[in-house]
Amino acid sequence: MPKTRAEINETEKEYWNEDKLDRTKIKQLRRHAFHFSYKREKKILQKLLKEFNNKKVLELGSYSWAAWFNEDTKPKELTCINISENELNKGKALGKDRPFTINHILMDANELSFADDTFDVVFGAAILHHLDIQKTINHVYRVLKPNGIIVFLEPLNMNPAYRIYRKLNPQERTPDEHALVQSDFKILRQKFSFDHYFLDFFSVIFGFISLKIYGDKNYDNLINKFGHKLDVLFSKIPFMYVFFARVIIYGNKKSYK
Ligand SMILES: C[S@@+](CC[C@H](N)C(=O)[O-])C[C@H]1O[C@@H](n2cnc3c(N)ncnc32)[C@H](O)[C@@H]1O
Repeated sequence: MPKTRAEINETEKEYWNEDKLDRTKIKQLRRHAFHFSYKREKKILQKLLKEFNNKKVLELGSYSWAAWFNEDTKPKELTCINISENELNKGKALGKDRPFTINHILMDANELSFADDTFDVVFGAAILHHLDIQKTINHVYRVLKPNGIIVFLEPLNMNPAYRIYRKLNPQERTPDEHALVQSDFKILRQKFSFDHYFLDFFSVIFGFISLKIYGDKNYDNLINKFGHKLDVLFSKIPFMYVFFARVIIYGNKKSYK
C-alpha cells in the first residue's frame, strides 16, 4: 500500500525535527563538484532576486532565503513556511534585524492555506521534490497574483548514475523524497511558463576525481574548473539536460483562461 500524504508529512517532520539525515559523504563531494557552480548559481540567483524587491514573497520549505538574499534583496514582506518547527526556528534565528518583515508559519506546502492572489513571488530550494508536485503546483498557482513569479532550485533524478548513487546511500535522504524527473516538469508546464539553468554533470565526475586526489581540501583547482567549464558549455545542448544533477527553474504563472 502506498503511503498517504499525511504519513509522508509525519516522516518528513520527524526527519527534519530530529536532524536525522547523514550527509557527511555527499558534502565532501559537493565541496569539490559544486565549488565553481555555487558561484555561477549565486550570480544567476542575484539576477533573479532583483524581481523580489518590494514584492510579497513566499518561501516554501524555508530557510534558503538566508543563503540566497544579498544586502540588496528587500522584499516588501517575506513569508516562510515549513512543516518542521526545527527548520522554521533556524530561519527565525537568522531573520532578526532584517530590513523587511518576515512571517514564519508552520504549514504543509501541499495544502497552502493562504487566500488566492496573495503573493507576487513563490520560491524554494530543494523543496518541490519533498512534496506532491501536482497538489503543490495547484496551490502555488492559486496563491500567486496574475503573472506571479516562481523560482525553484531542485535536484534532478534522470541520470542513471545518480539514481544508483541515491539507492546506495539512503541515509542522505528522507524516505519519500523524489528528485525531479520529466513528468514533474510536465506538471509545472500545465500552469507556468518557465526556463531553466541546468547545473552539474561533468563537475560531478571531475569533482569526484579531484576529491580522490586532494581529499577534502583544495577545491579551487584546475580539475574542478575544467568540469565546470564543460557543464556551462554542455548545459546549452537541449538533450543533455537529463545528465545534470540540479536545475534552477524560473518563470511566471500562465494567465487565466
Ligand atoms: C532539503 S530541505 C531544504 C531546506 C532549505 N530550503 C534549504 O535549501 O536549506 C527540505 C525542507 O523541506 C521541508 N518540508 C518537507 N516537507 C514539507 C511540507 N510538506 N511542507 C513544508 N515544508 C516541508 C523540510 O522540513 C526541510 O526544511
